[in-house]
Amino acid sequence: MNLLNTKTFERPDEHRRRLLRLAAMGSVFATHSGAFAEELTRTFAQTEGPFFPDNLPLDTDNDLLIINDALDPSVGEVTWLSGRVLDTSGTPLRNVLVEIWQCDANGAYLHSGSGNADNRDANFQGYGRFVTGLEGSYGFRTIKPVPYPGRTPHIHFKLSRGGQHLLTTQCYINGHAQNDRDGIYQRIPDDGRRASVTVDFTPVEGSRIGELAAGFDIVVGLTPEDA
Ligand SMILES: [Fe+2]
Repeated sequence: MNLLNTKTFERPDEHRRRLLRLAAMGSVFATHSGAFAEELTRTFAQTEGPFFPDNLPLDTDNDLLIINDALDPSVGEVTWLSGRVLDTSGTPLRNVLVEIWQCDANGAYLHSGSGNADNRDANFQGYGRFVTGLEGSYGFRTIKPVPYPGRTPHIHFKLSRGGQHLLTTQCYINGHAQNDRDGIYQRIPDDGRRASVTVDFTPVEGSRIGELAAGFDIVVGLTPEDA
């Protein structure tokens, strides 16, 4: 179902302003504020999988719902996905390149080997990138992930800084019934590390089009063996 309605959909300049605001304020869900005496739990690393785009889209910004200046948005439940990138002492990390990719509402990736490619949503960007600022914050507008054959819903993340790989992982929907049957998710060894990659998708109060918000703070180790 397309939850977007062209009458209520934000104009491009409005949503760009909103993305900038989102990035400027950092994650409203962030619970870490500055240095910690104790080490934060590192976000659990997960496989990159086979579907990192083999041809990057022409538009690689942090709004996956609109490709360039297209008028038609993607199909799916609009989600504001944001968070901060921190080191294990809680210090925000700036200049981290955050890349995300995910399948569209039909389960098709932006990849030549994707399943259901014939039904790909041509309006979904499928991939986006953002470089963190002073507060280590990032923000994307995308769709709530959906399942595809063999996988529970997830969004892929890859983080790097100055060409150094920091972390590759996947982000999951808290409480989704298929998490229990997903082999990759179930390989995460304990609840703490499962929690590090599992987030709530909650309705945005007052949204007329049923937007959701998801907060995902990411804790990375800075030594090569941590990556
Ligand atoms: Fe995937």
